[in-house]
Amino acid sequence: MRKLRIVARAPSNIALIKYMGKSDSSKNLPDNPSLSMTLNSLCTVADVERIEKSGDHWLPETPRFRPTDLPSDRMWVSPDLSSSGREKLLKHVERVREAVPAIYEKFGIVLDQEAWRGAGLHLRTANTFPASSGIASSASSFAAVTLAVAASFALDEVSWNRVWGEQPELKRALAQLSRRGSGSSCRSFEGPWVYWEGESSWIPSGIQLPEMAHFVILISTQPKQVSSSEAHLRIKTSPLWERRVERVRMRSNQLLSAMRTSDLRKLAQLAWTETWEMHSLFHTASEPFTYWEPGTVEALQYFSSWMGQASPPIVTLDAGPNVHVMVDRNDQKLWLSRLKEQFRDFQILEDGQGLGAKIEEWNTNGVG
Ligand code: DP6
Repeated sequence: MRKLRIVARAPSNIALIKYMGKSDSSKNLPDNPSLSMTLNSLCTVADVERIEKSGDHWLPETPRFRPTDLPSDRMWVSPDLSSSGREKLLKHVERVREAVPAIYEKFGIVLDQEAWRGAGLHLRTANTFPASSGIASSASSFAAVTLAVAASFALDEVSWNRVWGEQPELKRALAQLSRRGSGSSCRSFEGPWVYWEGESSWIPSGIQLPEMAHFVILISTQPKQVSSSEAHLRIKTSPLWERRVERVRMRSNQLLSAMRTSDLRKLAQLAWTETWEMHSLFHTASEPFTYWEPGTVEALQYFSSWMGQASPPIVTLDAGPNVHVMVDRNDQKLWLSRLKEQFRDFQILEDGQGLGAKIEEWNTNGVG
């Protein structure tokens, strides 16, 4: 069997319109459309190596590969997966392997039959951010693993690269597959803005926004008490769930038009409302739960006074306590010093918009 080692990198993404509630849990199909910004250096690297034995092997080690374009202060953290987390990921590896022949055939990529039938895979992943911190590690992990595993069955790099570069539909087919592992991962394949509805995700047309900077006010890195998969179920017991899908559809359309007219103020207001609505669903479920910490409340109070002003930042929270802030990249320095001054007790992570998943290394000598 020919040796091959693939290293893929996929960023996290941050939603302004949230995926919260599934119409089909077995396929991670969402109740409503969502829209996110793809990040850049908050990411996962998946390192996949073919091995002789059949069966998948998970090595909880940091990949030996380190992309050179990451900020030097970014640490690689190998995820400390629970046994159910590991099982979920390995099940996904098998799902990708099964789906690969049909995808290759559709896009004219040549399958390495021998490797596909006989090879086992060594898989290593690492993140540039703490897992379970409310930064969507499952999004970047499943996207990176899907891409690395899918590419590891290709006969040659040239045909893969040609299709990857010329046909965005390949990314979207892999995004669909990745969604089966974790819904929001389908928005990490391209960027900087991605819309996801039903089975499909794509880049919305006509966006006229300046390049954005992104900050995370890291309020806590403790594992969350309620997983986002659990949150997807529990929110439906809230009285506020009624007509949520209708409201989100309307908000998505308003958000898209604000993005097309570069109306950052409107965008900030819509994202703010959406965040509060999602967290209100958590707080009013029949068994209420919260991700907020005292620092989250402090940040929400601080930003609420910005929302009525002429140039508010875009502020949102995922299913976690940390606060995400997005501003025009021209104002990045100003906002960084403002946030550092205001939130002295908390680390501030800095990132920007990105273009999605990519292969970083294709090594036919196996371990490089
Ligand atoms: C709050 O994609 O983590 O981040 O499909 O069950 O893996 P599963 O859920 P997941 O949900 C993310 C929810 C969110 C909002 C969002 O990113 O849209």
